[in-house]
Amino acid sequence: MTGTQHLIGLLLGTEEDWPRAFETILGRLGPITGTGGERHVFGSERITIEPFNLRDRPRHDLVIDRLAYWYYQPREWLKKVSMMNGVYLLNSPFTFQSMEKHTAYCAMMRLGLKVPETVLVPYKNPVDNDRYAYTASKYNRPFDLDALAERIGYPLFMKPFDGGGWRGVSKIRTPAELHAAYDASGEMLMHLQESIDFDVFARSLSIGPETMVMRFHPDEPMHRRYQVDHNFLSPETGAEVVTIGRLVNSFFRWEFNSCETLIKDGEVYPIDYANACPDVALTSLHYYFPWAMKALVKWCVFALATGRRAKVDMETERFFEAADTPGATYAEKLTVYRELADAYFETGRYEDFCATSLAHIDEIVLDWVAGPDFDDLLVQTVQTVYPVHEHEQFIAHLRGLTGLWVKDETTRIRTV
Ligand SMILES: Nc1ncnc2c1ncn2[C@@H]1O[C@H](COP(=O)(O)OP(=O)(O)O)[C@@H](O)[C@H]1O
Ligand SMILES: [Mg+2]
Repeated sequence: MTGTQHLIGLLLGTEEDWPRAFETILGRLGPITGTGGERHVFGSERITIEPFNLRDRPRHDLVIDRLAYWYYQPREWLKKVSMMNGVYLLNSPFTFQSMEKHTAYCAMMRLGLKVPETVLVPYKNPVDNDRYAYTASKYNRPFDLDALAERIGYPLFMKPFDGGGWRGVSKIRTPAELHAAYDASGEMLMHLQESIDFDVFARSLSIGPETMVMRFHPDEPMHRRYQVDHNFLSPETGAEVVTIGRLVNSFFRWEFNSCETLIKDGEVYPIDYANACPDVALTSLHYYFPWAMKALVKWCVFALATGRRAKVDMETERFFEAADTPGATYAEKLTVYRELADAYFETGRYEDFCATSLAHIDEIVLDWVAGPDFDDLLVQTVQTVYPVHEHEQFIAHLRGLTGLWVKDETTRIRTV
């Protein structure tokens, strides 16, 4: 097939649902015509793990990484292909693995966001090392855990500085719980954080310059956490949540990330936004799954067809300048951050590209989700994720919600 060939690599763990969806949409999309009239052909391939020579030239032009946060050999391969070969990464280990939740908190506090009060306490049980015993006896200052907690106020949250997936998170209501949780933290490094008694929890998933803000219920089982609710925030708060997500992503160069914000009396508190391997499972996203898959294909195609270059350096000064503008209000800073974020993501150019080169993708995805291939994916996913006696219930649940998306999307396409 003539045209510029682009190969997208998928670096995967256990997931089967979204890679199949991605491969299907990309295949159905076929070659596209770029804005200059040139032709682009896309393929995808699941990356295998094997020895590599540091001077090997990779075949991939872009890699979506879902593995390297815990699997080090492919992580080093990603860093090599980024550094030496300019391969475009979603997301870059240079900013993801070195910027844990803790650094993300620091960055957003520096920019004036309403991150709840947070204190980092020393390890309960420091790593077992002779030299540490000497250092600890000489330099560790005893501290009053109760006094720290009193200052933050109960209830509070104790959670790992590099958290993810709710590992080690606890809500602390009393001094007894505080000590029990700290004792149990062992060799995990913990934050104490002020608790926000939120009215509503908004979780936004961003892919490039696209953001979906979803109503989230953290205490429900996975399949009921995202609620289909299109108007749960006022337009102003909705825009603020989108801006915060996009700010985080443009600041860290994360292009596939989720951002958790708690809303109380109209104020938006970001609490968890270093999730650069976000949950995109069909069973949890349900109604929003087709949107996410489409956005992922669109962003990859845009980046490759327009020759977008990945940036390894973060250029944080631009954001800090806005943060330090004398007399600027929170709202004024957010306006500047949004402009910087949209410039980074080339939002206007992306929208034009989608309108011209990807004008047919909405129909393609709608046709796929409404048809038998998608239903097959849905049934197989449920059969993999749930025990036999729950299959019928979850197949019906997911068919209902994705069917609702088909109905809404049909209406939307007909009215635009
Ligand atoms: N400061 C807070 N105020 C209220 N709830 C919180 C706070 N921090 C965490 N939580 C609750 O705990 C959950 C897990 O904490 P989070 O910081 O998101 O950790 P993880 O990175 O493991 O997802 C959140 O989804 C939220 O329900
Ligand atoms: Mg979280």
